[in-house]
Amino acid sequence: MTNGSEYAIKVDHLWKVFTADKKFNFNASDVERYIADGAVAAVRDVSLRIKQGEVFVIMGLSGSGKSTLIRCLTRLIEPSSGKVMINGKDVIHMDSQELTEFRRTEAAMVFQHYGLLPHRTVLENVSFGLKLRGVEVKIRAKKAREVIEKVGLDGWEQHYPAQLSGGMQQRVGIARALVQDTDLLLMDEPFSGLDPLIRREMQDELIRLQNELHKTIVFVTHDISEAVRLGDRMVVMKNGECVQEGRPQDIILNPVDEYVQKFVQDEQRIALMMENRDKKSKVRVLETHTGEKTDRAKVKLGRG
Ligand SMILES: Nc1ncnc2c1ncn2[C@@H]1O[C@H](COP(=O)(O)OP(=O)(O)OP(=O)(O)O)[C@@H](O)[C@H]1O
Ligand SMILES: [Mg+2]
Repeated sequence: MTNGSEYAIKVDHLWKVFTADKKFNFNASDVERYIADGAVAAVRDVSLRIKQGEVFVIMGLSGSGKSTLIRCLTRLIEPSSGKVMINGKDVIHMDSQELTEFRRTEAAMVFQHYGLLPHRTVLENVSFGLKLRGVEVKIRAKKAREVIEKVGLDGWEQHYPAQLSGGMQQRVGIARALVQDTDLLLMDEPFSGLDPLIRREMQDELIRLQNELHKTIVFVTHDISEAVRLGDRMVVMKNGECVQEGRPQDIILNPVDEYVQKFVQDEQRIALMMENRDKKSKVRVLETHTGEKTDRAKVKLGRG
């Protein structure tokens, strides 16, 4: 669905302060006092624009506020203050019924630890969200089978989660989000529990699906190579703030500070190795999965 705007998500001056104070009334100018009183400012004055159809990666150290930020987008965590517009809708002012409907129909979420229902089969797990929406049994089975096939699990419909490997369970998690047929997919470290080979396979799978489905995807990860492979654009978070935003290849080449530098140094090393292998051109083509769709980014590497 489009709303006449190139942006699927607009976030303005978003704050989340965790505090034990039940009567807490947020005021941005008092943040340091809240913190001195024991509160945690997990998201600090974040503003973002995420375009329709792009894969937007949120990266940062553990505790930097990634999960809090992605959860604030659909108010799984209630923001302290700020504005969130998704598909032209004001998420902050939705009542609980509107919000439930919104999460079911417009913003599906994939969690790190799958969150599958253990006593239900793959088919039942995938179709569960449609059941909640009151979709007729035959239609939901048909839709569920379609997405199960899409994520490569056909033949496994009648198995239970415990009978599947971690990678397969994560495919069920993705199928469960896909079956909702939302334009927006929110993914919080979906592959971080998987071993490196399976993880890469899942990344390829997501790239393949995205080339077919063109969703807007917000993807949280710790891993810069995952960010480079998947992200059209990314943001790096530190202590609740967004310290750098841009295309992965630009951030790798121009980290704003030491913190970002530490994240990107492995990718920088790979880029330099590639350059040394081919000294003549001194140019490495860094590309994201959209490679052919967008201009390939030719990046000149400075040699120290
Ligand atoms: N319910 C909560 N109550 C109090 N503090 C919280 C709560 N949830 C998160 N925090 C704090 O907010 C900060 C950000 O946490 P968050 O889970 O968003 O980090 P993260 O970047 O997702 O980390 P990770 O990579 O480990 O998942 C941390 O300091 C965390 O301790
Ligand atoms: Mg997290």
